[in-house]
Amino acid sequence: MNKIIISPSILSADFMNLEREITSVKEAGAEWVHIDVMDGHFVPNITIGVPVVKSIRKKTDMFLDVHLMIENPEKYVKAFANAGADLITFHYEASDEPEKVISLIKSFGKKAGISIKPNTYSDKIFPYLNDLDLVLVMTVEPGFGGQEFMHDCAMKIPSIKEHSPENLIIQVDGGINNITSKICKSLGANSLVAGSYIYGSNDYKKAIESLI
Ligand code: DX5
Ligand code: ZN
Repeated sequence: MNKIIISPSILSADFMNLEREITSVKEAGAEWVHIDVMDGHFVPNITIGVPVVKSIRKKTDMFLDVHLMIENPEKYVKAFANAGADLITFHYEASDEPEKVISLIKSFGKKAGISIKPNTYSDKIFPYLNDLDLVLVMTVEPGFGGQEFMHDCAMKIPSIKEHSPENLIIQVDGGINNITSKICKSLGANSLVAGSYIYGSNDYKKAIESLI
């Protein structure tokens, strides 16, 4: 069986103790950290930006999985790349020319991901699959942690997988827990983002292990 990459979302972490929260998920077995960047325009919430990514980079060697929920992602790719992101995922719905954003991300030597919101059909991203490192299927409306998993959205996974090259990572984000993770894995996902399920638990290791 393929390895499942768990990417804990720090959106649900204690921001006053971010270093400790990141170290804790690493010690609990995670290799990636999911960083949700929101601009108050593409989504109705504002979270963190470039300076925080830069500070996190200084304190950890974990793989920084940056999820941009922002308009005009092309304007900010350079800043997030320089801040130390390893993977930059932007939204299909936020860009008129996704192929340009993908090559821009790659021009900085970073891995490129594209994400689709619940109402976006999977075939919209088929033209880009060969150029991408990751596809992120949202199983909640982006903007907030702690929402309920939308089963219909997960049904996009098999068709994406069918059209994908072998090494493309299919990641799912939103409402992931020990039950919904099984559904996503059985449909073909090999990376899971989890915020409230991990950071809301009192045993990060147990929570992470229950997702693998
Ligand atoms: C939502 C974010 C998610 C969020 C997931 O817009 O993209 O990464 O942190 O939170 P949970 O796992 O609580 O649904
Ligand atoms: Zn996210």
